[in-house]
Amino acid sequence: MAETEKKITVGVCVMEKKVLSAPMGQIFDRLHAFGEFEVIHFGDKVILEEPIESWPVCDCLIAFYSSGYPLEKAEAYAALRKPFLVNELEPQHLLHDRRKVYERLEIFGIPVPRYALVIRETPHEQLDYFVEEEDFVEVHGVRFWKPFVEKPIDADNHHIMIYYPSSAGGGMKELFRKVGNRSSEFHPEVRRVRREGSYIYEEFMPTGGTDVKVYTVGPEYAHAEARKSPVVDGVVMRNPDGKEVRYPVLLTPAEKEMAREVCIAFRQSVCGFDLLRSNGRSYVCDVNGWSFVKNSHNPLLDGVWKATLNHPC
Ligand SMILES: Nc1ncnc2c1ncn2[C@@H]1O[C@H](COP(=O)(O)OP(=O)(O)OP(=O)(O)O)[C@@H](O)[C@H]1O
Ligand SMILES: [Mg+2]
Repeated sequence: MAETEKKITVGVCVMEKKVLSAPMGQIFDRLHAFGEFEVIHFGDKVILEEPIESWPVCDCLIAFYSSGYPLEKAEAYAALRKPFLVNELEPQHLLHDRRKVYERLEIFGIPVPRYALVIRETPHEQLDYFVEEEDFVEVHGVRFWKPFVEKPIDADNHHIMIYYPSSAGGGMKELFRKVGNRSSEFHPEVRRVRREGSYIYEEFMPTGGTDVKVYTVGPEYAHAEARKSPVVDGVVMRNPDGKEVRYPVLLTPAEKEMAREVCIAFRQSVCGFDLLRSNGRSYVCDVNGWSFVKNSHNPLLDGVWKATLNHPC
């Protein structure tokens, strides 16, 4: 391309902490190497302190929520300048509420585990539609036998609990974000569910101990890999280089269709989500939006690269 031709400007309106990750660095390196794009980093100071009118103008925008991110402000900027959005902003609100995630998945006909909502306005609020017995909970007359899964409605809260039946000795397993080499812990004495907040109860789907992590780049491309579920024993398996062990996975045609639908449903070109393969079917149990494969060799980047070349911005 001739030097005089105008480059396509790609604004990066993302918290610096996220921009500095290795996969993001690779994307910018490749965009730069292609020659047709000029990448403009907004930076935290501009994002947090400057009015949107003085934010840089760009043709395309990479913008996604992370902790401390002013999503509404970014939306106002996008409404003002109307750049091509790689991941749309408004649907990113949904990603913080597991109830809204499941509702959106269902609207698009994407299978989710059987679930029910227990919503409390105040901590420990007594609810006439919620019954707890030793081996099940009942929500609006619908029973969930143990083992069942209890997830906070707040999708940023990763304290997920699984309750086991008395026939198996009872107890509860708490899953959490990795702390060193652990991702879950079993509490044999806990038999009662949490009552201080709002939760989703869902059927425990037996998977044989693996999660399938899927990463889309537009509706036509998805990379998938499997990792040991935190439900197994809570011991994180790591390679000698310290990265979590992941196994190659080929998606079935039905799963590829689900990946396409997730990407479209949430209007997030770059979108990570979790699949549970259970009893010959697959269910989506979590949608994360913009996220990356954690390994250093990153096949997703090839996808980003191809998708970027095809973008009509
Ligand atoms: N219905 C279910 N049946 C069986 N296992 C489940 C179910 N829901 C979740 N899990 C297990 O719990 C793990 C965590 O659940 P989920 O992905 O919904 O939570 P999260 O905290 O939002 O995860 P992430 O860390 O990916 O953001 C899943 O990876 C899966 O291993
Ligand atoms: Mg998950």
